[in-house]
Amino acid sequence: MKKLEGKVALITGAGSGIGLAIAEAFVQAGAYVYIMGRHAAPLEQAVKKIGENVAAVQGDVAELADLKGVYTRVKQDKGRHSVYSASKAAVRSFARTWTADQQDRKIRVNVLSPGTTDTPGLNELITSNAVLQDRITNLHKIVPLGRLVQPAEVAKAAVFLASDDASFITGIELFVDGGIAQI
Ligand SMILES: NC(=O)c1ccc[n+]([C@@H]2O[C@H](COP(=O)([O-])OP(=O)(O)OC[C@H]3O[C@@H](n4cnc5c(N)ncnc54)[C@H](OP(=O)(O)O)[C@@H]3O)[C@@H](O)[C@H]2O)c1
Repeated sequence: MKKLEGKVALITGAGSGIGLAIAEAFVQAGAYVYIMGRHAAPLEQAVKKIGENVAAVQGDVAELADLKGVYTRVKQDKGRHSVYSASKAAVRSFARTWTADQQDRKIRVNVLSPGTTDTPGLNELITSNAVLQDRITNLHKIVPLGRLVQPAEVAKAAVFLASDDASFITGIELFVDGGIAQI
């Protein structure tokens, strides 16, 4: 049995970068994933890349109507609310509150905090930001493990947190950042 067999996940911002890597890893681990993003073309490409057990929902996480739409779609298709949402909405303070709120329902809430990650989003930022360019050039001096995080490394941690391997872990913030937040 795969680690996420039978699970359904909503992954926002999954047209590229970290979200796409997490969506791929979740499907490989046995989950069915809904991927969300604002533009149709990257979502279509992502669906092709992932290949199976994936559906795209176009929408903006900043629009409540779009969020409502995606949750309604998941509920209609799969009969439940999603088990994992990879988005900035899952910030640390929310996680603390939700951990306490959801304890009776046995829902675990954890935060995954990536370090500087090698994604299309980062590369776009670098081209117009000299400070960031300098930071990337000197990454080996700043980050204990001395390099950018790869999206697949963040995705492995996401699969772990969503799986039963993390069955007694809730309310934590897991850093996948080469140690930068620890020094
Ligand atoms: N890369 C890093 O170093 C790093 C480090 C720590 C945290 N993060 C955070 O991790 C997240 C992903 O970063 P990334 O580097 O993987 O970025 P990315 O390569 O630019 O991918 C971001 C994805 O999110 C989608 N998206 C953006 N705004 C959205 C919205 N309002 N609603 C729905 N989808 C949206 C984009 O597609 P559309 O434009 O089609 O919507 C795109 O597919 C970001 O929140 C980023 O701040 C990144």
